[in-house]
Amino acid sequence: MLGMTELAPQVAKMTIEGGYRLSGEVSASGSKNGALAIMAATLLVKGEIVLHNIPHIGDVCTMIDMLHALGAKADLSADGVLVVNASTISQSEAPPDLVKKMRASVSVLGPLLARTGWARVAIPGGCDIGSRPIDFHIKGIRALGASVRNDHGVVEAQCDNLIGAKVYLDFPSAGATQQIMTAASLAQGTTVIENAASEPEVTDLASFLVQCGAKIQGAGTGTIQVEGVSHLHGTEYSIIPDRVEVGTFALAAANTRGDVFIRGALSEHNTALLQKLLEIGVAVRAEETGLCVVARRGCIATDIVTMPYPGFPTDLQQPIGAVLATADGTSIITEKVYEHRFKYLGELNRMGADTHTENRTAVIRGVPKLHGASVSACDLRAGAALVIAALAADGITEISDMEHVYRGYEQFTSKLTALGAVVRAEEVCFC
Ligand code: EPU
Repeated sequence: MLGMTELAPQVAKMTIEGGYRLSGEVSASGSKNGALAIMAATLLVKGEIVLHNIPHIGDVCTMIDMLHALGAKADLSADGVLVVNASTISQSEAPPDLVKKMRASVSVLGPLLARTGWARVAIPGGCDIGSRPIDFHIKGIRALGASVRNDHGVVEAQCDNLIGAKVYLDFPSAGATQQIMTAASLAQGTTVIENAASEPEVTDLASFLVQCGAKIQGAGTGTIQVEGVSHLHGTEYSIIPDRVEVGTFALAAANTRGDVFIRGALSEHNTALLQKLLEIGVAVRAEETGLCVVARRGCIATDIVTMPYPGFPTDLQQPIGAVLATADGTSIITEKVYEHRFKYLGELNRMGADTHTENRTAVIRGVPKLHGASVSACDLRAGAALVIAALAADGITEISDMEHVYRGYEQFTSKLTALGAVVRAEEVCFC
């Protein structure tokens, strides 16, 4: 077994020569956000857990480091099998340096509290895509009877026993729903989460917990009911495919007038995107074994409003923005989830796009072609958007800060190259 640290690449810069159609087959990796939530939830379990389909990406590496720091055993094999044993936890404080690297680290709060009665997590400030508070997480844990202090960005939670309660979320937050669901799994009595998130990654976490002995109903709907149990046991579980990675490759195919089959894609997790692809003139065919995307001509403009699932996902707003930059007509994007997710448009403008933004709205006037430029990947999905744009641009694009992208996309360079893209990336060791 190799540790993640030895496996994951870090790429600071990527150079793409545009103008090559993507064609062929690519396999979907395991879901980043599904894997991270389930890995954090392993802290609830006494016994061995075997997780399949774990992607080799930077964020998974950070979560493995987190599990180690808290005293759990965690080993990831080269073929994506992660074996975790958190029967013994030696620490209830998440190391601040790991939390700083990845905001999803906050998801260990509920499991640690439920397991040990005390947890401390230093929450970093706002990030590149928005302010990302955790007030719903805290509200949920308080409702379950914990006393929570949130001083200067450090959250400390304590309880004798967690007691089931009714929690209403002001917004269907995926992270808060997952946090409350995990904590409630070991609480006394029944918890009902109203206005819960229904993202596939929430359902995936619930399925995993149920396999460990939790009693959860309603995952995938707006009301989730959790009846607490006294302990959870080990299991073997396979993470769902990454719907954002699938969407990214579908959009890359669309932008290069490509013909790509994405093996393992679950079309039912990408309904909103598939509808938009049809609207902009891309042929999509859902098959039992994956998704076929064929684009024979240039795309047509459309409007996008991001929303919680099953609405159009904010994580694909930037990738589709890159496609709309050369669509025929004017598109309007309204970003309703994260207030700072339009920075990539400034980079696209350096490549010849015609866009402007005002608060949560972006207007994209399609131009016939983008041209290569030196641009920067300001965050994970912004980087993916720039790659999509560069694949179809005239000439060479140099994208810096690609390490953000490798936090979330497994073997991105080799997958693109196998589809016919002309990509060069400097790979150095991660972590
Ligand atoms: N929010 C609050 N208070 C909270 C929690 C959330 O105001 O306590 C707000 C957020 O600021 C945001 C909205 O609610 O405006 C939705 O946030 P949510 O909690 O659903 O997001 P998250 O759980 O922090 C996950 C993914 C994100 C993805 C969102 C939405 C992980 C690790 N991250 O974040 O993924 O965009 O759900 O689907 O699961 C990415 O992969 O690039 C990424 C950012």
